[in-house]
Amino acid sequence: MSSSPIGIFDSGIGGLSVLRAVRALLPGERLIYVGDQGHVPYGPRPLAEVQAFSVAITRFLLGQGAKMIVVACNAASAAALHHLRETFPDVPFVGMEPAVKPAAEQTHSGVVGVLATPATFQGALYASVVERFAHGVTVLQDVCPGLVGQIEQGNLSGPETRQILEKALRPMLAQGADTVVMGCTHYPFVIPLIEEIGGGRLRVIDPAPAVARQVKRVLEARGIQAGGNQKAGVQYYTSGPLDSFDSLLFNLLAENDHAHSLNWHDGQVYALSSANSA
Ligand code: DGL
Repeated sequence: MSSSPIGIFDSGIGGLSVLRAVRALLPGERLIYVGDQGHVPYGPRPLAEVQAFSVAITRFLLGQGAKMIVVACNAASAAALHHLRETFPDVPFVGMEPAVKPAAEQTHSGVVGVLATPATFQGALYASVVERFAHGVTVLQDVCPGLVGQIEQGNLSGPETRQILEKALRPMLAQGADTVVMGCTHYPFVIPLIEEIGGGRLRVIDPAPAVARQVKRVLEARGIQAGGNQKAGVQYYTSGPLDSFDSLLFNLLAENDHAHSLNWHDGQVYALSSANSA
């Protein structure tokens, strides 16, 4: 048993889709969430840069007493998961990998789509899941340019967001795709729009519940799960503007809370003042 928190991070608010699933499954676990909104989006950045951000944020979370790190970002997992495990060998990590396996198992048409960012498609992790699990299945990809930015602005269903998704999904549907994988943790927040564009023909796979189950397995295997099932608190940090994080938190999770500020200095990340108005 351990009352220490679980650290969760993403480039921005995308990892909240994972946090939501972890909280639903493990309400008694204290969580610390870092959204690196000062650097969002990670997807178009070189893998080495995303790796350096991921190491610094992990150091910060460990400094806050985290007993485990959830890399709730496909881009950061692609760029850094392997390196993080090597750099912090005693720390349990759970990362994201594009859910090609369940998609390949569930498709009837034999055509699946993956929506992710460029960093995820470039990483070795993606190549390896396609090679291992997509036998006989056609995997179509799209990087949805600008979608992370729209979601970061809270635009979940406006014309710009719709246009990006239609451009990605129409060709997939035309080629017979019946299943689409959320390969970026921001994208589950636009599932209603994806389903609408799919017109009932698309099964959408959000890996967050499976990631939460993996978190539970790892905690239990190490004997470091929290004691009770009483709802434990979450501490939110962002390296971007506090107000916009707080309002997204409310819009996306119906959560009325205040984030704390993070500052980057010399490649390291530090907590600044206390929360906005806590
Ligand atoms: N939410 C992230 C992911 O899962 C990163 C999006 C981005 O910053 O480009 O890939």
